[in-house]
Amino acid sequence: MPSHIHSVSKIHRIASIPGDGIGVEITQAAEKVLHVLAKTLGGFEFDFTTFDWSSANFLKRGWYMPPDGIEQLKNHDAIYFGAVGSPDVPDHISLWGLILPIRKSLNQYVNVRPTRILPGTTSPLTTCKPADLDWVIVRENSEGEYSGQGGTSHGDTTYAVATEVSIFSYTGIHRIMKYAFETARSRPRKKLTMVTKSNAQRHGMVLWDKIFYEVAKEYEDVEIDKMLVDAMTVRMVLNPESMDTIVATNLHADILSDLAAALSGSIGIAPSSNLDPTRENPSMFEPIHGSAPDIAGKGIANPVGAFWSAAEMVRWVGQEVAADKLMQAIENVTKAGIKTKDLGGQKNTEEVTTAVCQEIERLF
Ligand code: NAI
Ligand code: MG
Repeated sequence: MPSHIHSVSKIHRIASIPGDGIGVEITQAAEKVLHVLAKTLGGFEFDFTTFDWSSANFLKRGWYMPPDGIEQLKNHDAIYFGAVGSPDVPDHISLWGLILPIRKSLNQYVNVRPTRILPGTTSPLTTCKPADLDWVIVRENSEGEYSGQGGTSHGDTTYAVATEVSIFSYTGIHRIMKYAFETARSRPRKKLTMVTKSNAQRHGMVLWDKIFYEVAKEYEDVEIDKMLVDAMTVRMVLNPESMDTIVATNLHADILSDLAAALSGSIGIAPSSNLDPTRENPSMFEPIHGSAPDIAGKGIANPVGAFWSAAEMVRWVGQEVAADKLMQAIENVTKAGIKTKDLGGQKNTEEVTTAVCQEIERLF
């Protein structure tokens, strides 16, 4: 092809919601890296539309998302999310104002949270070698303990009564089990651990167990086992090598994935993908950490979780080669010791971001 004729570049339309605190800092870093990735590899581009839905704007306007917010998001191939949460707004208002309605309205019923010890980083578990900790936590993302059902009576009195109702549906459990078994099957070890608390919680969790064994019959090549959530925390610390893919409820997986992130070195590296596997709606990609008000504005947030989440987004929109290159660049940078303080390093957000951009360019 003559050099003055360019082939048409595929454009991926991304809705970007930086949110609050370090969410803003790491989203900016992720967008920068994604632009460098697209420019270096060629053949595709990212077109970001930024939505200023944040706690600061909530305090000014009285809303996180406008009434047609979900419709606006549907217009995109994927959503990139920073974090939401501010000391000035109660956390249940900010979560229910922004991130939970997005997950629910867009049918993002799977939340995938991989955990690995990246090269050049160390686990707080002194005997844990990098190969010993390589997990994917599959979190039910649409119902369970975060279904939002319940209410409060006599709220401001000492007679106050509040209910928080968990919802477990056959459909909701069955579809997350299918996803978890498919994930386990796609990985070399083909191993799935299911977590509940079906000794003390005797309805919803028992239904989880039942559907797990039912779906397992379709996956005889996948090795299975079952854990109670309290014992699971012990096993994650003492026998990390004994697990591979893990499936758990909305609440349990939320907690276990923070533990998993800490065991792999820092919450600052952990990614998550909120997926609508039917692809009817855009999926959403975000680091698992929050807005970290304690370090916000200092420029020291670890951007690795944001970059890894971005890599998962790049893979989801179909740019697999680019996703692999981005992961390679991130791992080469951590391996070279270019790390933020939470990983025991000396660098700031911008220095790590620049290093990843340069590494992407070097790899091509
Ligand atoms: P957090 O994840 O924001 O922070 C926990 C600790 O980890 C803090 O000491 C923080 O400095 C550190 N940390 C987190 N991310 C880091 C990074 N990238 N680099 C270096 N250090 C990092 O959790 P926390 O403190 O419980 O919540 C703060 C706010 O974030 C709250 O308002 C909470 O509701 C919200 N939140 C929002 C989430 C979301 O938007 N998906 C998820 C979790 C919390
Ligand atoms: Mg969490």
